[in-house]
Amino acid sequence: MEKINYQLKERSRKVELPENLGFGLIFTDHIFEMDYLPEIGWHNPTIKPLENLPMHPASMFIHYGQAIFEGLKAFKTEKGEVVIFRPEKHFKRLNRSARRLCIPEVDVDFMLQALTELVNIEKEWIPIKKGESLYIRPFVYGSDSFLGVKQSSGYKLIILLSPVGAYYPEGFKPVKILVQDKYVRAVRGGIGECKTPANYAASLFAADEARKLGYTQVLWLDAIEQKYIEEVGTMNIFVRFKDEIATPKLSGTILPGVTRDSVIHILKDWGMNITERNVSIDEVISAYEKGDLLGIFGTGTAAIISPVGWLRYKDNEMTINNGQPDDLSLKLFDKITSIQYGLAEDKFNWITHVSKSEVEV
Ligand SMILES: Cc1ncc(COP(=O)(O)O)c(C=O)c1O
Repeated sequence: MEKINYQLKERSRKVELPENLGFGLIFTDHIFEMDYLPEIGWHNPTIKPLENLPMHPASMFIHYGQAIFEGLKAFKTEKGEVVIFRPEKHFKRLNRSARRLCIPEVDVDFMLQALTELVNIEKEWIPIKKGESLYIRPFVYGSDSFLGVKQSSGYKLIILLSPVGAYYPEGFKPVKILVQDKYVRAVRGGIGECKTPANYAASLFAADEARKLGYTQVLWLDAIEQKYIEEVGTMNIFVRFKDEIATPKLSGTILPGVTRDSVIHILKDWGMNITERNVSIDEVISAYEKGDLLGIFGTGTAAIISPVGWLRYKDNEMTINNGQPDDLSLKLFDKITSIQYGLAEDKFNWITHVSKSEVEV
């Protein structure tokens, strides 16, 4: 791979971050960008000022959705060090999505180098308050201008950075979830396990209906029998029974979450009985009725752990753990965030330290 080109902007003043960052609202000064053509592969890797994309109205991804993305985070630790959480795992997942969407794969080692260079250049943008971080959004899209349905021959990859606020500024808060038994998110053999825009477009209508009924998000059931739980909103789901913690196994319709994987590792390390298997909504209800349902929580990069306080399925509304976060959710949230902020040992080697770049700005 060629060397990265640097077209860096003069920074005339110190970066000033607003008090409330929110999510995905502000962006850093620079992006990483590279292009793909079949004859030369990925080329022209550049770190350059953020600007609007010049785009032909026939750009293929706009019409047929041939695009993939990732979402990960960088943190400033208590000691002021800059670290990224499990970037290799995210780039490997980007390549998995790439294969399914007929998009050329990227070289993971090169992407790790490009990302650490970019984050190092933009480190002033990393907020330091507890819970805040730098959200990293790599994405790839088919860039040919053509109106027929086929795979694009040219592609663009971009890494965009956005400082984001704490997900729980007022404390860890359980959510209200509606079990969706009408619309489905993904079907076996489809693209549910990929991080690709179509899956998110497919989820909007149901999420909006749930919101109008006073729920934060939906719990998706499998598309064939509408019997087995799959994901909660855009998070993976874990159910804590009396003697077991179960999470749906990865069967092609579920995104293989990096947080899901981290939670499984930690629970195993704690000696807990964690299983990956099919979990039916009837099993959840029957455990609730017997008093054997101790907690339900979602996992994802944005919130890390999101406990479910209320779950509605048809006419049945369950209040889980009195609408309070269960102790295991709290313990897991604390463990993962402590690793991210450098407060706990990085036993599983999940942290990438952002090395000092040769380029100073
Ligand atoms: C559909 C979906 N499921 C699950 C997740 C959780 O994945 P991760 O833990 O890698 O953020 C996400 C978020 O990326 C998602 O979009």
